[in-house]
Amino acid sequence: MSATTPGHPHAIIRAGTTADIPQLIQLGLLSYGQYAPLLHEDNWQKLRKGIENPDMWHSIIQSSHSFLYETSGDVVGMAFLLPHGNAWDVYPDEWSYIRMVGVHPSCSGQGIATKLTMCCIEKARNTGEQIIALHTSEVMHAARHIYENLGFTIERAIADRFGLKYWLYKMELPHPPSK
Ligand SMILES: CC(C)(COP(=O)(O)OP(=O)(O)OC[C@H]1O[C@@H](n2cnc3c(N)ncnc32)[C@H](O)[C@@H]1OP(=O)(O)O)[C@@H](O)C(=O)NCCC(=O)NCCS
Repeated sequence: MSATTPGHPHAIIRAGTTADIPQLIQLGLLSYGQYAPLLHEDNWQKLRKGIENPDMWHSIIQSSHSFLYETSGDVVGMAFLLPHGNAWDVYPDEWSYIRMVGVHPSCSGQGIATKLTMCCIEKARNTGEQIIALHTSEVMHAARHIYENLGFTIERAIADRFGLKYWLYKMELPHPPSK
C-alpha cells in the first residue's frame, strides 16, 4: 500500500520489503553518517557496522510496519514501527516503538521525518497500541525537536551508547473505553 505525500506531489510513502535492504543501508550510512565527526572513531565504526548488518534490517522489516519515503524511485526517508510483542533492549513487551528514522541529508528540512514519524504514531493508534516509544541521543537535536513537538516526553535516561547520552521517550495513546 502506498500514499501520496502532500507538498511532494511526486513522492509516495510505502511499506518496505527485504528487496529495499541495500538502499536502506545506504540511507542509514548517509543519514547517521552525519554524526561521524561527533563520535570517537571506534564508536562510529560500531554504529556503522550495525547499520551495514543486513540481518538487522531483515529483522526490522519482518517485524515492523515500515514507512519508506520514495521520490523518483529513490528511498530518501525511513521509519519503522515495531508493534507490541517485540520486547527489545529498553522496550518492554507491551510497548510499540519507533526505530531507524533517517532522511537523506540532501532532503533534510522538508518535513519528511516529521511526516514519517506521524505515520508511525497514526499506525500505532489505529492498531490499538497503548504506548509508543523511541530512544534518541544528545547529538540528535532535530530528531528530539520533532519527537517533542509530536508529543513524546522523556521517560528516563538510559545507558550511554556510542559514547553518547541517550534518553527513552514515550507517549501514551489513550483509547476510548469500548462500550
Ligand atoms: C533527524 C532527521 C531524521 C530529521 O529529518 P528531516 O526530514 O530533516 O526532519 P523534518 O524536516 O521533518 O524536521 C526537522 C525539524 O527539526 C528542526 N531542527 C533542525 N535542526 C535542528 C537543531 N539543530 N536543533 C533543533 N531543531 C532542529 C527543524 O526546524 C524542523 O522543525 P520544524 O518543523 O518545527 O521547523 C534527519 O536529520 C536524519 O536522518 N538525521 C540522522 C539520523 C537521526 O538522527 N535519526 C533520528 C534517530 S532518533
